[in-house]
Amino acid sequence: MTAVGIDAIEIWTGKLALDLAETFAPAKDDNPEKYTKGLGLRASSFPDTYEDIVTMGANAAKRLMDRKGLEPDDIGRIDVATESAFDNSKPVSTYIAGCLEDVYDGDFHHANKGERKFACVAGTQSIDDAYNWIKAGRNRGRAALVIATDTALYARGDPGEATQGAGAVAMLVDEDPNVVELSTHQGYGSADETDFLKPNQQFPSVDGKRSVQVYLARMREALEDFESVAGRTHPDDYAYIPFHTPFPGMVRKAALLGFRHMTRDTEVEDGLADEIGRQPRETDFEDWDAYEGAIREYMDALKETDTYDTWYARAIDPTLTLSRQVGNWYTGSVHVARASALKTAAETGRALSGEKLLLGSYGSGAQAEIHSETVAEGWREEVEALDIDEQLSRRYDLSFEEYGRVHDAHNHEKERELEEFTVPGGEFVFTGWGRMNERT
Ligand code: HMG
Repeated sequence: MTAVGIDAIEIWTGKLALDLAETFAPAKDDNPEKYTKGLGLRASSFPDTYEDIVTMGANAAKRLMDRKGLEPDDIGRIDVATESAFDNSKPVSTYIAGCLEDVYDGDFHHANKGERKFACVAGTQSIDDAYNWIKAGRNRGRAALVIATDTALYARGDPGEATQGAGAVAMLVDEDPNVVELSTHQGYGSADETDFLKPNQQFPSVDGKRSVQVYLARMREALEDFESVAGRTHPDDYAYIPFHTPFPGMVRKAALLGFRHMTRDTEVEDGLADEIGRQPRETDFEDWDAYEGAIREYMDALKETDTYDTWYARAIDPTLTLSRQVGNWYTGSVHVARASALKTAAETGRALSGEKLLLGSYGSGAQAEIHSETVAEGWREEVEALDIDEQLSRRYDLSFEEYGRVHDAHNHEKERELEEFTVPGGEFVFTGWGRMNERT
């Protein structure tokens, strides 16, 4: 069977940055540690006023196609995952294809284009669609371009404001992939939920505290469903476990839940028994509340142990390095987490080919997907080609007052002349609705 998976990745960050400790916290009269330690974030990325989901997606895709030496004819499918779409009819992939056609000789007239929406999990769903299309033999030797692109903005003053972000991740899904091979091992946790939604509105209505609980509940269900396909799974089976990262503090909670679930009835639980007791069993309690209380107590003790700490430092912390600097990228977030882990492995000289990753994707509304991947032979070269560190260091640092103007510009004032904070060069820029395909 031919291996199918992610062959190449490119990341494009919005060119502006809002520093949460230095700029946001003082303006809000908050303790900076609420953001840096509590949420685990240092900064958010924002698009400059000439950037949006189309330009960021097209710029990431162009870099990827140039680096891989691809022409439009090599691509049989363009899927864009976004929850920031501005057009209820044309998919964002047509706008992005239009941009790319302006700079390549060929065109994408025979490529299938679409737009996937299920909040943040849509990026992973698009990868799944591309995998299925290739495995079904309908690709005629061509690859799929999957682009996850979002501007994650909340209303000013909303508690979610500290978790904003903007950027795009372009991924090439192909046979004999260089980065990761995908498998049929997947599990889902899915339910109709209303804690985060945008029905015909610009900013999400969010019940933030409940959204955290819904994320954890769906993730636990997805893990159980995954185990029903892949069999019992152990935290040490995986080199890294990248989760959807609205903010690193959310991943701290998800990782603890996952570790406890995966170590029940294992030598890890046995080894920890003297220190923190055994995991509570539902049958030992009269009601669900008492059982849940005991689980919470066990998890509080678990996170203080060296065993957990060592595992977290190895398998989880490296997935958060980029997210800390960019905030929530919605559909791109879990793919940034994967890239972050692989980048750390490359920088520390770790051998990774053949090792497994477990991905925890999530979208409000709500659905979690857990799936496993195997790192491919060519991963290091692909990851070393990323220039995300340079992009991050080139971002313009916004003052709080400038941040307010940028927030307004992206949401209300696209039609008029807008101030720009950075100078575009050799990239797609927004020049007005329907005229987004110009390169400077
Ligand atoms: P909040 O209510 O302002 O913050 O917003 P808080 O008071 O809960 O504090 C946050 C954490 O900082 C807490 O840690 C505090 O204890 C800690 P925790 O108890 O949770 O571990 N803290 C401090 N730590 C150190 N020093 C201090 C300090 N002060 C406080 N001085 C909230 C938090 C998540 C509600 C808000 O950011 C929000 O509404 N975010 C948007 C929704 C969201 O991101 N939800 C996450 C799950 S849903 C999801 O991921 C899907 C999503 O990506 C959308 C999609 O799928 O499309 C959002």
